[in-house]
Amino acid sequence: MKILVVGGGGREHAIIRALKKSPDCGEIWCAPGNGGIGYDARCKDIKATDVEAMVAFAQEEKFDYVVVAQDDPLALGMVDALAAVGIPAFGPDKAAAQIEASKVFSKNLMKKYGIPTAAYETFDDPAKAMEYIRAQNRWPVVIKADGLALGKGVLICEDEPAAEAGIQEIMLDKKFGASGSRVVVEEFLTGPEVSVLSFTDGKVVKPMVSSMDHKRACDNDTGLNTGGMGTIAPNPYYTPAVAQRCMEEIFLPTIRAMEAEGCPFKGCLYFGLMLTPDGPKVIEYNCRFGDPEAQVVLPLLDSDLLTVMNACTNGTLADTEVKFRDGAAACVILASGGYPVSYEKGKEITGLTEGQLPGAEDVTVYHAGTAVKDGKLVTSGGRVLGVTATGGDLPAALAKAYQAADQIHFDKLHRRSDIGRRALQALEAQK
Ligand code: AMP
Ligand code: GLY
Repeated sequence: MKILVVGGGGREHAIIRALKKSPDCGEIWCAPGNGGIGYDARCKDIKATDVEAMVAFAQEEKFDYVVVAQDDPLALGMVDALAAVGIPAFGPDKAAAQIEASKVFSKNLMKKYGIPTAAYETFDDPAKAMEYIRAQNRWPVVIKADGLALGKGVLICEDEPAAEAGIQEIMLDKKFGASGSRVVVEEFLTGPEVSVLSFTDGKVVKPMVSSMDHKRACDNDTGLNTGGMGTIAPNPYYTPAVAQRCMEEIFLPTIRAMEAEGCPFKGCLYFGLMLTPDGPKVIEYNCRFGDPEAQVVLPLLDSDLLTVMNACTNGTLADTEVKFRDGAAACVILASGGYPVSYEKGKEITGLTEGQLPGAEDVTVYHAGTAVKDGKLVTSGGRVLGVTATGGDLPAALAKAYQAADQIHFDKLHRRSDIGRRALQALEAQK
C-alpha cells in the first residue's frame, strides 16, 4: 500500500516508524513532515489544515491509504473529503471529531449517557459564567474554552479574581481565538492522570497499553502547560481492576453513545482519565493519538499497525488481534529553551546520524521539530526531539532514554529530568 501520513511532529514520526514494520507498507509519505521525518518518509510541504490541497495531492499521487494524525484536519473534515474521492483514511469523520473539537459536545454527551466526568455547566455569556462561579464558591474552579486551543485552553483558577481574569481572557480577549466564545465551567478533580489510547471501528473498542504524560514544562510539575514533555508506558496506576472499570463505565458507553448519536467514531480515541477517589472520570477526549503518548505506546505494539488501522476503517476490528508486548517504554522530550512561550530556531543538533543515535539499542529518536539546512540537522520548533527507549521494566527504559538523551545536544536545550519519577514511586508503593 502507498501511504500518506498527515501531520509533522513526533507522533507522526512514531506512526510512520510503526507502519514501516508492516509487510503491506510500500511507499510512505508525510505531509508536511519535518527534516528528521525525511529520513524515514518522503515529505511534501502541504499544511496539515489545507484540506483541499491535501486531497488533491492524495488523488494525484494515488495513495491507497491516508492516516490523518493531527486534530485540526480531522475537525475540518479531511477524512470526509478523502472518502468523497474514494480514498480510505484512518481517523474519525468531522461529526465524530467533535468529541475533541467541542468540549460542550463531549460534556453533553457524557451527561446524556451517564459517563463519569467532572460536574459542569456551559456558558456563552461571560456575566452568567461569573455568576455561576460565584454562586458555586468552590475553589479551585476549572474553566475551559469550547474549541481546539492546542491543549492550552484550560485554566485552573484558585479564587474569584483569578476566575474573573480567566473569563476575561477566554471570552472577551479571545486569547484562544474563536474557541473561547463558549466556555465549560467545571468541578476540579484530583487523582493520578492516565492516558488510554484505543483503537475503535465504531462498534468494538480495543484499548492500547496505558500511558502517563508530563504536561508541565518543568520538573516537579511546575511551569506552564505544554503539549507534553515526556511520557511513560504502561501507567502503574492503571491496574487491571481500574482497566475493567474503565471499559465498563467509560470506553464501551462512549463508543455506544457516539453510535447512538449518529456519529460512530472510527480511528484512535484517546481517553484522558483522572482516577479520582470516586472512581475513574473523563478529563478529556482526543480524537487522535496523543503526542508524545504515541511515542511510547506504538513501540510496544506487537501487532501490525497497518492491519489494525485498516480494521478500524473497514469495521473489522472484532476479528483483528491488537497485542502489546510486556515491558515498558519512556520518552524524554528535548525542547527549545523558552517553549511553550517563545524560543529560537535554527540551532544545530549534534550527536545524531541520519536522525538516529548510532549504537543505542532499543532507542528511537522521534523528530518533532527539526529541519535539514545545508546538510545539517537544526531545530525548527518548540518540541524538537522525543527520545524513546524500551526495556524490560520502567527503570530500565528510563535509564536508557536518559542515557541516550545525554548524547544529543543543541544550544538552549531544555528537558525535564524527572520523567517517570512519579510512576516509579507508584511502582515502589505497590510492592
Ligand atoms: P485538558 O486539555 O482538558 O486535558 O486539560 C489539561 C490539563 O488540565 C489536564 O491534563 C489536567 O491536568 C487539568 N485538568 C483539566 N480538567 C480538570 C479538572 N476538571 N480537574 C482537575 N484538573 C483538570
Ligand atoms: N499529550 C497530550 C495530547 O496529545 O493531547
